[in-house]
Amino acid sequence: MTSKPSVFVSRVIPDAGLSLLRENFDVTVWPHDRPPTRQELTACCQGKDALVCLLTEKVDAELLAAAPAVKIVANVAVGFDNLDVAAGTRAGVVMSNTPGVLDETTADLAFALLMASARRVVEADRLVRTGTWAGWGIMQYLGHDIHHATLGIVGLGRIGKAVARRAAGFAMNVLYADAAPAGEDVEKELRARFVPLKDLLRESDFVSLHVPLMEQTHHLIDASALKLMKKSAHLINTSRGPVVDEKALVDALNSGTIAGAGLDVYENEPMISSELLALPNVVLLPHIASASHATRGKMSEVAARNVIAFFNGGPLPTPLNPEAFKVRSAVS
Ligand code: DGY
Repeated sequence: MTSKPSVFVSRVIPDAGLSLLRENFDVTVWPHDRPPTRQELTACCQGKDALVCLLTEKVDAELLAAAPAVKIVANVAVGFDNLDVAAGTRAGVVMSNTPGVLDETTADLAFALLMASARRVVEADRLVRTGTWAGWGIMQYLGHDIHHATLGIVGLGRIGKAVARRAAGFAMNVLYADAAPAGEDVEKELRARFVPLKDLLRESDFVSLHVPLMEQTHHLIDASALKLMKKSAHLINTSRGPVVDEKALVDALNSGTIAGAGLDVYENEPMISSELLALPNVVLLPHIASASHATRGKMSEVAARNVIAFFNGGPLPTPLNPEAFKVRSAVS
């Protein structure tokens, strides 16, 4: 009897995926409630055929060279800036992510941040909890209306579209910026208008970011972009922290360049600058946009199905570098 392929899973993931992996493979799970360090990850991958990892694990040429038995890396996330896909392809290591299953859940949270920031929900909650609320006041916690406001969506991919659909319920005017306009049918369905990013920043009351982190999107929202925004505008980020220049955002929130922000992601997670923590006009969440029971279950299942498909000879449901298969067969 041939032995089952061995899989290292870098954290306890929801059972929907973990039980599938356990049914098919010889599985080792990182037992701690923290990411493995680089050294620990390298050690744990020794002799493993597959790695199932989270966005907290950096998988690059160095790691792949140090763990040469690894043939597939399945990221339990849609964002894959933690993976060096080109290095994977060169080494013939197949990589996958989890697109399509977290769009609605992420859009829900983007909207939750938008509403919390606009209506100062967290600030007001803090007042009530301190026991210092002295009663109703006509000037208390004035915020910004969401209904009939203009929402600017930066990146009209699957998640951006799900956000646009929610905006319709609030009778919002929707603008979007992207590398290219979406088709007429999409624009009609979402009642969204394509504009250059600068116009979107100037005209929007809410700017919500839905681009992947790449060289071209690093600090896409910097000091000059923030200056273009309305003083009454709010910035919402559920994409990746480095899409925003965090230092410039702190300055903009401090100086009144913009009114508020709702953030789920940060430049140096889990480190958050003390300046950001001290600001009253920002809502801060710990990268939980996809964190519903159902969606995290689906994400772990998609990751497991990619590994299963790989060892069954492919194709993978959601590959990032299908060409790595060819590189593999050429070297093996
Ligand atoms: C992702 O999937 O990229 C999110 O950031 C975590 O769900």
